[in-house]
Amino acid sequence: MKGVTLPTETVFVMEMSPIKFGLGATEEIGYDLTRLGARRVLIITDPQVMALGLPERVRTLVEEQGGKAEIYDGVEIEPTDRSVEEAARFAAGKEFDGLVAVGGGSTIDTAKAVSLFTCHPAPVLGYVNRPVGKGRPVPGPLKPLVAVPTTAGTGSETTPVAVVHVLDRRIKAGISHRLLRPSLGIVDPLNTLTAPPEVTAACGADILTHALESYTSRPFDARPKHHPAERPAYIGANPASDVWCERAIEYVGRYLRRGVLNGQDLEARTYLALAATYAGIGFGNAGVHIPHAIAYPVAGMVRTYIPAGYRTSRPLVPHGVSVIVSAPSAFRFTYPASPERHVRAAQLLGHPEGGEEALPRALLALMRDIGIPNGLEALGYTRADIPSLVEGTLMQERLLAGSPRPVGAAELERILEGAMRYW
Ligand SMILES: [Fe+2]
Repeated sequence: MKGVTLPTETVFVMEMSPIKFGLGATEEIGYDLTRLGARRVLIITDPQVMALGLPERVRTLVEEQGGKAEIYDGVEIEPTDRSVEEAARFAAGKEFDGLVAVGGGSTIDTAKAVSLFTCHPAPVLGYVNRPVGKGRPVPGPLKPLVAVPTTAGTGSETTPVAVVHVLDRRIKAGISHRLLRPSLGIVDPLNTLTAPPEVTAACGADILTHALESYTSRPFDARPKHHPAERPAYIGANPASDVWCERAIEYVGRYLRRGVLNGQDLEARTYLALAATYAGIGFGNAGVHIPHAIAYPVAGMVRTYIPAGYRTSRPLVPHGVSVIVSAPSAFRFTYPASPERHVRAAQLLGHPEGGEEALPRALLALMRDIGIPNGLEALGYTRADIPSLVEGTLMQERLLAGSPRPVGAAELERILEGAMRYW
């Protein structure tokens, strides 16, 4: 029987939050909130950022414009379904017409979830992507959310995703819907000066994997044609996402070592902040694939690993570490799908040599220089954990769909084997 050729996609969409970028941009937040119609504001933050004073400054700026603001500072690093529910409970008792997230990806993701659960209450798992949750779409608009990142990493200020750790299932999972995108991202490099070297390194690793995965993801025009209502936010590599990703990779290659070495290097901090947003725009449209899919169980199944530089007594693998740890091995696997893109990415990172090993080599050199653990073993995993890690990764169907090569249990096993110890 002759096979039927299905039509492939010919359309891609570019969506992003409006971004206000620059040194001192935070000082304009009162004006922006007024413009967005937010007069009573709930500021969401974590205790570390709270101690540094930025949320109080934001409150003052809101009040100077005649608005009112209340602060919730209970965000947990790598938020869980419980911590998100707690924040939503706090918010449910308050009257507010807008939110401000001041912090890293954990805080911005928590604020997205708080807005969702207060506007359209439902159990967390109802909205979490299938097959971990029910994948229920966001039913309607949310309150205006202004995101003020204090790390250069997730790009959450422009993306339609919030990630939560579902404690009972020992797995991290995403809620993704275009209505979750913040109304405005205020990206002020001055707010990132206080991030310690380990946090800067992990966040930079996250930027890089966002850009590399989007750049190498299954191209939009190699996917089936979608009805507009069903076209996913993650549409695959396309000419627009490529532009953002290439620039983000280049900036990380040029500035991440400097930013880790000297947190006060304002030029490095500025370009890393730009890179985080650029990569966020890239992956918020193209989508990530294998390293991010593997990161979910790597972070979710953590037993004892406590990272340096993070104030936590709870074992956790920082998101950026969990994504980059499998990246050299994963890009060895994806290389045959687009050798020219893998080589180009290595070049953008400052490694001019070609070939299959160029990108893994560039990544490993950077990981060593910025102090990223040298493989899954360093995070407390052994070969005996591979079957459960594979199982957890296979749950991330939405992300694996972006892999440029078909990937199943056997391929994931090989990728994980290759990521146990690099040096
Ligand atoms: Fe990420």
